[in-house]
Amino acid sequence: MKVVTNDIELKIALQDFNRGKRKLGFIPTMGALHEGHLHLVKQSHEENDITVVSIFINPKQFNNQDDFDKYPVTLESDKELLERGHCDILLLPSQEVIYPKGFKPVKVDIDTLNKVFEGPMRPGHFDGVIQVVNRLFEIVTPDVSYFGLKDFQQCLVIKALRNELFPKMELKFVPTIRKAEGLALSSRNARLSQLGQEKANIIFKTLAMIKELKKHIEPYDALKYGKHILTQNGFEVEYFALANADTLIESKKWLRNGKNIVLAAVWLEGVRLIDNYIF
Ligand code: PAJ
Repeated sequence: MKVVTNDIELKIALQDFNRGKRKLGFIPTMGALHEGHLHLVKQSHEENDITVVSIFINPKQFNNQDDFDKYPVTLESDKELLERGHCDILLLPSQEVIYPKGFKPVKVDIDTLNKVFEGPMRPGHFDGVIQVVNRLFEIVTPDVSYFGLKDFQQCLVIKALRNELFPKMELKFVPTIRKAEGLALSSRNARLSQLGQEKANIIFKTLAMIKELKKHIEPYDALKYGKHILTQNGFEVEYFALANADTLIESKKWLRNGKNIVLAAVWLEGVRLIDNYIF
């Protein structure tokens, strides 16, 4: 695996890889890599000739300084995992490479996405994601980019960015990788105690329960019951809601199969966890 830090080094590395007509798959990350990230890398490796992964902890997308300060940095183990995961090139850009002097933010119309769920809870977050991913797409010029459905709203934001500024690039959204008991893998899980990690499995179990309740009761009652289970188990619920999976507009009625998404954001032991379930 080659390690590069800017666009020029990347261009040189790609010459060595004889980019020409070969397909390049790209996975942007903030490091602290786990099996979830590696799954994206694996899929890119299977579907492309060259796989590029970036690690950059993007200050612009953290609306909470404490969260940024506590974000885990595990570069050495990340490199080992990527090497074993068949990543060809690791891009480790500096602040100056991503946000050079005179940096002009791009404007992408993400419509209602800023007004629901993660939008109001994390002001400025999606704009920060747009700025960094736009710069990374400019530097890497991927044929295909991979994102995880765990961050469902982020996937829709990236789709808007692609549609507006990178129409030729393909996007692939990859299902959430979970522990056997259900907890979605996340870099933030490391901040939970052992007991907390076990408890956190309840999030997915509660989401999956909503799908079962669809057969019997209306969304309002199903969601109320789900929230009750979570609070009973010591979670602080920020949102637990049903929406249309195409638009993320909240729905009071069950939708067609495959269009229902239940989204959850909860706090446990001072850690904010998000997950979702589509059915
Ligand atoms: P990060 O949280 O490091 O995640 C990088 C990618 O891995 C994202 O597309 C995320 O959805 C995906 N991912 C995380 N956990 C996953 C899991 N359990 N299963 C499948 N995929 C998973 O998301 C970001 O970084 C940043 O916002 C970024 C896009 C890099 C912009 O800074």
